[in-house]
Formats: sequence, C-alpha cells, structure tokens
Amino acid sequence: MTHSAALILAAGKGTRMHSARPKVLQELLGEPMLAYVLAALRPLYTQADGREAVWAVLGHGADMVAAAFPGLSAIRQEQQLGTGHALATALPTLREQGVARVLVVNGDVPLLTTDIGRRFLAEAGDAAIAFASLSLEDAGAYGRVVRKGGDVAAIVEAKDFDAAFHGPDTGEVNAGLYLLDVEAVARLLPRIGNNNKSGEYYITDLVALGLADGLCVRGVNCGADESLLGVNSPAELARMEELLRGRIVRQLLASGVTLHAPELVRVGPFAEIAPGAEITGPCELYGHSQVEAGARIESHCVLQDSVVRKGARIRSFSHLERAEAGENTVVGPFARLRPGALLEPESHVGNFVELKNARLGPGAKANHLSYLGDAEIGAAANIGAGTITCNYDGKHKHRTSIGAHAFIGSNTALVAPVAVGDGALVGAGSVITKDVPAGELAVARGRQKNLPRKK
Ligand code: UD1
Ligand code: CA
Repeated sequence: MTHSAALILAAGKGTRMHSARPKVLQELLGEPMLAYVLAALRPLYTQADGREAVWAVLGHGADMVAAAFPGLSAIRQEQQLGTGHALATALPTLREQGVARVLVVNGDVPLLTTDIGRRFLAEAGDAAIAFASLSLEDAGAYGRVVRKGGDVAAIVEAKDFDAAFHGPDTGEVNAGLYLLDVEAVARLLPRIGNNNKSGEYYITDLVALGLADGLCVRGVNCGADESLLGVNSPAELARMEELLRGRIVRQLLASGVTLHAPELVRVGPFAEIAPGAEITGPCELYGHSQVEAGARIESHCVLQDSVVRKGARIRSFSHLERAEAGENTVVGPFARLRPGALLEPESHVGNFVELKNARLGPGAKANHLSYLGDAEIGAAANIGAGTITCNYDGKHKHRTSIGAHAFIGSNTALVAPVAVGDGALVGAGSVITKDVPAGELAVARGRQKNLPRKK
C-alpha cells in the first residue's frame, strides 16, 4: 500500500498559450514542461520497489500527453471544470491506492526542483491542508493569500479578489503546490462550488473550508523562489526558459565545462557535458546528448540526442541528431549527421556532407559534398567529393558497403545494394551498379573522345 503520492494537475488547455498543443507539452530547452515536473518529483516519490507514486490528471490533449509520456499513471478528467474538480476526479484512484497524503502540484511549474519540494514537505508537516505561497512584487493573475492577524484565512483567485472586501493586496500568492490529507479533503470537496468569476471549481477553496471545519491549515511562505513560478503565456514560457537556461549554464561552468558566449549556449536538462568539454555559443544541445572531456563544439551547432566523444571537434554550423562522433573525429563545418550516423575514431566528415544510418570506419574521410545513407564504410577509406549512395529505389532502402582503404573518386554514384571491396579504387564520375572486388579498379563512365575541332 502506498501512503504518500504526488498528483500533477495537467488537464488544462492553457488557453493563454494560443497553441494546439496542451500546455504541459510546451517545450523549454527541447523538453516538454511536464518532463521537468516529473523529474523534480521522481526522487521524492519513487518507492522501495522502484515504482513511482506519481499520477497526472490529463484532459485536454490527453492522448498526446500520454503518447509523449508512455508509462505515466494518468487519470482522465474528461471535462476541465477547474482545479478542484481535477482533484475530485483523481480522489477515487488515490483512495483505492491507499494514499493518505498527497502532494498536489500544478503541471505548469517547469522550474520546480526536488529541493523546494523537500523543503515544502518538511514545513507542511502534518497539517491537514498545506500550501506553498510566494511573495511577489507583481502578483499578476495568481490567487491571493488572505490572512487575518497573520493567520491564513483563505486563498482568493485574482479575478475574485476585492481589496475593499478581502483587505490590502500584500503580494502573497498561492504557488499551486499543496500537501493534502486525502480523507479530510474527501469530506470537503463536495462542498466546493463554482459560484465565482470563472464558474470553475477551485482547489483553493479547500483553505477556507478546512479552516471552517477547524482543520489545521498551513501556508508555507517560500519568499520569491523562482522554482514555483507558473507558465500561462508565451511571454512567461520565454522567461522560464531563460531562467532554466541560466541555471543549467551556471551548473556547467561550476562543474568545469568551458563555455564561450555562455549567454548564447542552450543546453537541455538531460544533456550530459563533461568537465573539460568546450562549447561556443550560439549553440543548442538537447535531449540525452553527451559531450565528453576534451571535445569541442564550435558555434551555431545543434545537437539532439547525440554523443561527442573525447577530443572530437564539431565545427560551426553542424547539425547532429541521434548520431555519434567518435574520439578525435572532425565534423563540419556545415555537416549533417542524421539518426544512426556513427563516426569511428579519427574519421572526418567535412562540409555539406550528410550521413544517415551509416558507419564511417576509423580514420575514414568524407570531406566534401556527399550523401552517405544506409552505408558501411571501412577503415581509412577515402570518399571523394560528390559521392552519393543511391540507397532508395523508390520503394525500398538498400545498403552500400565500402571496404577498408577503398578510394572512391569524386562524383561517384553508388547504386545500392552494392559493395566495393577493401582497397578497391573507383574512378571519378562512375555510376557503380555492380560489386567491385577487393583491390580492383572500376571505371563506369563514358570514355572520353578527343576529336579535331571544326574550323
Ligand atoms: C492556479 C491557482 C492559483 C495559483 C496559480 C499558481 C486555482 C483555482 N488557482 O491558478 O491560486 O496562484 O495556479 O500558478 O487553482 N487544471 C486541470 N484541470 C482543470 C483546470 C486546471 O488539471 O480543470 C490544471 C492545469 O492544467 C494547470 C493547473 O491545473 O496545470 C493550474 O491551472 P491554471 O488554469 O493554470 O490555474 P491558474 O489560473 O494559474
Ligand atoms: Ca497556471
């Protein structure tokens, strides 16, 4: 039986984002907002058996969210009638699972950290209802915390807040992070109404209702901690992304990564950059990209889920996606490594060369203007300028294999499936449709005729 769990409220549409994508799939540094919230909660709610006690309430775009997060424990809120309704929808599942205390968090807080979660849990203690508050200079659209004689009295949504009635706006707002006693909440939820400016059922009404029932209600003030800021508009998304970017860049610098123009370096939260790596901005490294010590990435490169090994140099304007540049390789400028490109140590890929699902053997070179797709290239082979593997016949993809120390002359078309043996030589301008045996020379082009010129 689980006794504590986390619940992420993620069913809302995010109307103010003006996007077809549900808000929690909006990306910051290449990762959807929900990934950040999950990553922050994971260390707090992973059980001894490795299972996570984290649920998400999904509604708007639920199928898209579920597809982006396979394995996520989701509860569907078919109609989004407010945060109180979202909690009520999840309650039967939580009770079934034996959850006694639940940490509820809005899904739109991508800066959330495990650390702030842990601090909040400690300060919330055993209160029946606890919530985190922030003290902001501009309280904007946040729900206002109303106190009477220092004690929490209610949370009043911005739209419903009236200073004449509720007292002065102190700038203390509800952060959207709660610790709730499930049974206490089960008694209060049926009493939440929707008689307010939005016509929604507000989770925040639990505060006044709980107090009226004599429950222990605690507001935990977290000052101006940025980790609890919510994203409701493109402008807020941009601001949060910039805060996150700065946080990651500072961590990289502190760990010993050299960054030139660090203000222009964008690294996703799951990328691993080893101390001793060197990166020049502007540059983007996303997904589970990995850069080893001594690797250098020049400006204007984009890496997605790619690995750059020790001593490799990725020169300007290169684009790598699910590719690996091995030790001491040189890539670019202007190279494109597509999924499945694997450069073995000391190999070179130069300008305007594209690789897809292709392995370049140790020390092999493809330095200019080539397409190498579905190909296996042996050690120290030389691929001349303009070499193209013709891997697609309109229906199927076929493989090309080129042996070790082979030399492919410029402007060669290799019509796959085809194999060029070790040490073979292909004359420039050839269209190779048959295998070339090891060590042989193949020339497949019109023979040159020299004729006397007409006067
Ligand atoms: C909410 C709080 C507000 C607080 C602010 C902090 C309420 C009523 N208000 O306002 O006091 O200051 O967060 O950021 O809770 N959601 C659902 N189902 C719904 C409606 C919303 O799952 O039916 C989810 C949304 O996807 C979102 C979260 O709940 O992740 C909060 O909803 P949102 O509309 O962003 O609330 P705020 O107006 O920001
Ligand atoms: Ca919000």
